[in-house]
Amino acid sequence: MHKVLIDTDPGIDDAMAIFYAGLHPDIDLIGMTSVFGNVTAEIAARNALVLSDMLGQDIPVAQGAAKPLEQTPKPVSDHVHGDEGFGDLPAQIPSCAPLDIDAADFIIETVHAHPGDVILAPIGPLTNIAEALRRDPEIAGKVKRLVIMGGGIARGNVTDFAEANIWNDPHAADAVFAAEWPVTMIGLDVTMQVLADPADFDRCAKAAPQLGGFLHRAAQFYMRFYHAQYGLNGAQMHDPTALIAVTNPEYFALEPLRLEVILNGNRAGQTRRSDNPERPLIDVALGVDAEAVKARFLSVIGTGH
Ligand code: BDR
Ligand code: CA
Repeated sequence: MHKVLIDTDPGIDDAMAIFYAGLHPDIDLIGMTSVFGNVTAEIAARNALVLSDMLGQDIPVAQGAAKPLEQTPKPVSDHVHGDEGFGDLPAQIPSCAPLDIDAADFIIETVHAHPGDVILAPIGPLTNIAEALRRDPEIAGKVKRLVIMGGGIARGNVTDFAEANIWNDPHAADAVFAAEWPVTMIGLDVTMQVLADPADFDRCAKAAPQLGGFLHRAAQFYMRFYHAQYGLNGAQMHDPTALIAVTNPEYFALEPLRLEVILNGNRAGQTRRSDNPERPLIDVALGVDAEAVKARFLSVIGTGH
């Protein structure tokens, strides 16, 4: 059983990832932490709780960072994910409130409660993870692995060079990539190859009317963005692809690389290879069996209600 804590800014592809993790029989989704990004940290916490309600589970959620560690905050990505995070869908009120502690402290507490066992799956900006590491560097030796959706070697999406999660807080990302802990980076090199098209969302809705139906409704807005921006017939499955790398690493071609993040200038947020031998090696996904990833996603969502 994989004990997973998801750090997230839900977000439509975040919802896909959270449903995948919540439904997968080999994942114990032990908590979620919210971060600014697609929406504010407050809306992200609310949305994470709403998704937990929809799953019929009682997943603890801690609210996290409202802004990046150092740089001036960028605007939220409402043009991609909608005003409330789930496309055109109106805000929903969750049945419970976030925890009393903040995201970084909840991450620290969770890692110490299950030493060597917790997989951190950040699928938003890395601010909470970097802050947890700053408050308690000992967690580096106690986390089982980080499986991160973010970055890219060949290209970006918000700029030619930067992927959105890294661009939103490059200082945090650089601190996370510099730390001595096992990291897998699931970046744009692979997530841009995994596309869910309208027929896939139809399948989700048919197989699981409530959970899949919700994804289907939210995804209409998301697919309109991808069509307008890239001329695509479908949406890139960034965040669920990272969770699928937790359960099915064999679908990915991973290469050990040292990375650094460009902090300023027109390449800010770029994740690039580093020659610095003191930087740790990171397992960077450079290849993927996109059809296998998509099939896995659809089959797990199909087990939902
Ligand atoms: C990442 O940015 C966000 O908009 C998505 O939810 C995903 O985590 C893709 O670049
Ligand atoms: Ca996200």
